[in-house]
Amino acid sequence: MTSDTAADRTGTDFEIFIVTAPGLESVLCEEVKARGFRDATAIKGGVTVRGGWPEVWRANLELRGATRVLARVASFRALHLAQLDKRARRVPWAEFLRPDVPVRVEASCKGSRIYHAGATAQRIERAITEELGAPISAEAGVSIKARIDDDLCTISVDASGESLHKRGHKEEIHKAPLRETLAALFLRHCGFDGTEPVVDPMCGSGTFVIEAAEIAAGLYPGRTRHFAFEQLASFNEAAWQAMRASGGNGAKPAFRFYGSDRDGGAIAMSRNNAERAGVAGLTDFQKHAVSDLMPPEGPPGLVIVNPPYGARIGEKKPLFALYGALGQTLLTRFSGWRVGLLTNEASLAQATGLPFQPSGPSVSHGGLRVTLHSTAALP
Ligand SMILES: C[S@@+](CC[C@H](N)C(=O)[O-])C[C@H]1O[C@@H](n2cnc3c(N)ncnc32)[C@H](O)[C@@H]1O
Repeated sequence: MTSDTAADRTGTDFEIFIVTAPGLESVLCEEVKARGFRDATAIKGGVTVRGGWPEVWRANLELRGATRVLARVASFRALHLAQLDKRARRVPWAEFLRPDVPVRVEASCKGSRIYHAGATAQRIERAITEELGAPISAEAGVSIKARIDDDLCTISVDASGESLHKRGHKEEIHKAPLRETLAALFLRHCGFDGTEPVVDPMCGSGTFVIEAAEIAAGLYPGRTRHFAFEQLASFNEAAWQAMRASGGNGAKPAFRFYGSDRDGGAIAMSRNNAERAGVAGLTDFQKHAVSDLMPPEGPPGLVIVNPPYGARIGEKKPLFALYGALGQTLLTRFSGWRVGLLTNEASLAQATGLPFQPSGPSVSHGGLRVTLHSTAALP
C-alpha cells in the first residue's frame, strides 16, 4: 500500500499484519490459510493478509497462533518532518479513531531521512489531536504504531490491545507456563487438528491440554475477552456479536485430553483453568509422576510435553534422568503415539532416546531459546 488516496488508506480492503513469535511465521501462515483469510503471506515476525475491519475482528477472535493484529490503515512517503506533519494530517483518522477515546502513539524509524522516533510520534499525536480531537494518553487502550522504513511511513492501528495469548479464561499459572499462542502453534506443527487424543504428562497449568480440547470443540480462542478494536470508530457491535456467537461448532469430540503432573498444585490449577475455559468435560487431569504414566484407553494420538528446562527450574544434570525416564515410559507404553517435546537443550531431548525427526521450529520463550522435537508414530 504505497498510494496516498483515501480509498486505499481506509477503504474496505487494506493490509492486515498478524504478529507471531519469530520462528513460527510459517506455522501461523498455515493456520491463517486454513481459516480462509485472503492473500496470506509469511514475512519476518508474522503473516500479512488483505481484508477489511470484519477480517481484523475475525483474526483476533479465531487465530490461535496470533500475538496481535495490526490494521495498516495508511502509508505515505515522508522525507522530512514538515512533510510527515502535513501528510499525517491528511490521514482520515475519523474513519477508525473516535474523538472521545484516548490514543497513544508509538513510533520507530529505520534507514530513513527522518530518524527521530520521538519527533515522529509527536507529529502524529499532534495530527490526531488537532484534526480529530482525540486525547493522547500514555495509558490509552488504543494504540497507533507509526513506522518509518526507507522513508515510507506506515500507520497501523493495534486492533488487539492486550496480547492475544491472554485468552481471558486462564487465571492460574504454574512454574514456567507456556504461552497459549505458542502451545497452539506447536500442536499444529505436530499435526494436531482436533481429531485425536492428546496427553501431556508434565502439564503444569494445563496449557497444551486446554488448547487441544478447545480446538477439538471448535471454540474460538478470543470468545471471552475484549479487544482494542471495540473502541474504534470502525467497530460494529451487532456484526461483532453475530461473529462471536458463531463459535463452538457444536462438535462433540470423541476423544479426551489428558494432563498429569507430579505437583498437586499444578493439577488443581489445570482443573480450574479447564473449568473456566468451558472444557472441563473434555479434559482429565491426574496427579502422578511421569514414571506412572499409562496411555488412555482408545486409539493412539499425540503426546506433547515441555519438561522442566535446564536453565530455568533447577539444574540441568538431574534433568537427564528425568528426560530418560520420560523417553523410556513413552517407548515402552505408547506404541503408535507421536511425540512432541519442547526443550531448550538438544542434549536433553537426546537423553529421552526417542526417534526424533530433524528439529522443528525454535522460538524464544521467557529468555530461553526452545525447540520442538517431534517423532512419527512410535514403533
Ligand atoms: C515447564 S513446566 C510445564 C509448563 C506447562 N506446559 C504450562 O504451560 O503450564 C514442567 C512441569 O513438569 C512437572 N514435572 C517435573 N518433574 C516431573 C515428574 N517426574 N513427573 C511429572 N511431572 C513433573 C513440573 O511440576 C512442572 O509443572
